Amino acid sequence: MNPSVAPAYSFLRACRGEPIEETPVWIMRQAGRYLPEYRAIREKHSFLDVCRVPEVCAAVTAQPIERFGFDAAILFQDILIPLLGMGVPVEFDPSPKLGFQIRTRDDLDRLRWEGVDAAAPHIRPVIRAVRAHLQGRVPLIGFAGSPFTMAAYLVDAGSRDLAKTRSFLARDPEAFARLLDLLADATVDYLKAQIGAGVDAVMLFDTQAGWLPPVEFARTAVATADRVLRGLPKGTPTIYFALAPSVGHLEALRASRADVLGLDYRVSLAQARAILGNQRAVQGNLDPAVLLGPGEEIVIRAESVLRENAGRPGHIFNLGHGIFPDTPIDSVKLLVDTVKRHRSAPGVRS
Ligand code: CP3
Repeated sequence: MNPSVAPAYSFLRACRGEPIEETPVWIMRQAGRYLPEYRAIREKHSFLDVCRVPEVCAAVTAQPIERFGFDAAILFQDILIPLLGMGVPVEFDPSPKLGFQIRTRDDLDRLRWEGVDAAAPHIRPVIRAVRAHLQGRVPLIGFAGSPFTMAAYLVDAGSRDLAKTRSFLARDPEAFARLLDLLADATVDYLKAQIGAGVDAVMLFDTQAGWLPPVEFARTAVATADRVLRGLPKGTPTIYFALAPSVGHLEALRASRADVLGLDYRVSLAQARAILGNQRAVQGNLDPAVLLGPGEEIVIRAESVLRENAGRPGHIFNLGHGIFPDTPIDSVKLLVDTVKRHRSAPGVRS
């Protein structure tokens, strides 16, 4: 990244909490099945190929930028891709199926990480291709799953209430800590490679962590995510998104060292601000289900999120979880237009 260009990006300025007129907007899973041009590419290429073939990944990553004018691109990958490099077979059809689960301390021996060049050799070429395709139009977000959420997939296959993960943690906390350590080390290596190849910000997805009660959420999920963030070079903004649905979880998030906290759609942005303080940048948090409803309601609810932030610096507009595959594209356009109209009417923000 050319440092003389960076300050112009509203997304990066918001990550740093700088006051700006406009609220940057992007949405989680912005390149995905709701887009006809994504579905067209998927007719010709498998999901894994879209993640691993540089030109295909670059074209897909740029699709939502080209259609809607989002203020940031997110690298098209999946949080489970690095598991392939740990010796775990993963298939997407489209929900992920893992070749085996980790249920006991002996199972830990089945996992390995021999460095990013062996485990994820595609990642640097893919990022270079995406950057070349984007030509500096918008910053690029790299990402990984948080160690706890990766562990939850390895133990439980992302099942509904993580019963097996929570019981593993209760039964054998030492072995569970070893699993988290292994995942944290791999994730530092993986994200450092992404930063080295040119991503402008990195995001950790901890979408399974909210199944833990707040105290365990703090000392297991948030603390391990922090271990990863501490291992990264300074200067690249970091975003931590936990699906964290209660006031107790928000209080636990206060300790996170991430520059930006992604907010769950089930908490109010105003309440999150009251708990987290105004110094921390926040990202979110419209309920993605709203995009399946009528246009008037989309405008009302998007404006209500903006109003809850009350013009404070450091707000990145997003959904409070990934977009649903059956979302109409006109609803996404209306959402982006609503947020962008807001930016050109600074009086509304005070
Ligand atoms: O945000 C983006 O646009 C970047 C790409 C991205 C994908 N998955 C693409 C994808 C990101 C950041 C993810 C993160 C991810 N993947 C998470 C964390 C966030 C969350 O939504 O909870 C999780 C838990 C996964 C695991 C995963 N991958 C699931 C549960 C599924 C199936 C879900 C579904 O929509 O059916 C996937 C597959 C997947 N990852 C798809 C996409 C676009 C669908 C693949 C296809 O059919 O084309």
